[in-house]
Amino acid sequence: MIKKGIILAGGHGTRMSPLTKAVNKQLLPIYDKPLIYYPISVLMLAGIKNILLIVNKGQLNQFRKILDNGKRFGVNISYIEQPKPRGLPDAFILGKKFIDKDKVALILGDNFFYGQSLTNKLKNCTRLNSGCKVLLHSVSNPELYGVAFMSKKNKIISIKEKPRKSKSNLAITGLYFFDNKVVEYSKSLKPSKRNELEIVDLLNRYRKKNKLTAEFLGRGGAWLDTGSIDDFYNTSSFVSALENRQGLKIACLEEIALKNKWLEKKDMKKAISFYGNCIYSDYLKKLI
Ligand code: DAU
Repeated sequence: MIKKGIILAGGHGTRMSPLTKAVNKQLLPIYDKPLIYYPISVLMLAGIKNILLIVNKGQLNQFRKILDNGKRFGVNISYIEQPKPRGLPDAFILGKKFIDKDKVALILGDNFFYGQSLTNKLKNCTRLNSGCKVLLHSVSNPELYGVAFMSKKNKIISIKEKPRKSKSNLAITGLYFFDNKVVEYSKSLKPSKRNELEIVDLLNRYRKKNKLTAEFLGRGGAWLDTGSIDDFYNTSSFVSALENRQGLKIACLEEIALKNKWLEKKDMKKAISFYGNCIYSDYLKKLI
């Protein structure tokens, strides 16, 4: 079982400027909570309690203010600052000590997942024995993402980062599951032309060894990448529509912790007093 997860929540955030000049993108709102709540909730749904949050240099206190050490919602969060955005595989170089001898999941801080059997799918992925597993989802604009090309037997034959033209519409989402070789492989990667370590180069290491497998989110699942301002508004509308229709919150971390039995009802009181008088607290009050 994979019991550790890394969230990459740094990055330039240039596409979102001036919104991101003073505040990290992952702390901006997706409807009623900060964006960072959503990737944390995905790891929690996967049963992952030990989380390393990688943030930009100088922004650690912003995250601590809202997340602290994670105890409020039943998890353990530790932090590392990334001196500059050196690419996604840098997560495994910076996170070497945290990973230690274990397997690890990586989720990008700006990725949003939702869907009927998501929890089961996530739990399946954490059962990875060896190699790497990626989560694929069909999109209308594959040129914006890492893309996977599949054989008729649903084996990944090749992957490309943001291809100009693509015959495949299967995007590689920002959620990956790795065995412990990921640290060694990441260290041996060379920076690309844009001077970053590339996730496709890392995934290709696994693919060449026949160790790259895929899980599909499927048509009943939603995957949204909040890379641009429009994405933020679209994702917010999606969350608002569902939450208001159902009266249930997406990515309420304390609710997931309660369901996972990582918190007891009495612990909710601490969370309620932390949030103060607000709709989120009203929702927590209803849970108990
Ligand atoms: O969202 C899925 C896509 O994410 C994948 O399909 C692509 O293969 C993958 O390369 C990535 O593409 P993006 O263009 O969205 O990556 P971006 O540079 O925007 O970084 C994604 C998140 O990771 C963002 O929240 C910032 C954070 N980040 C990124 C880099 C490069 C870091 O914290 N540190 C970094 O060094």
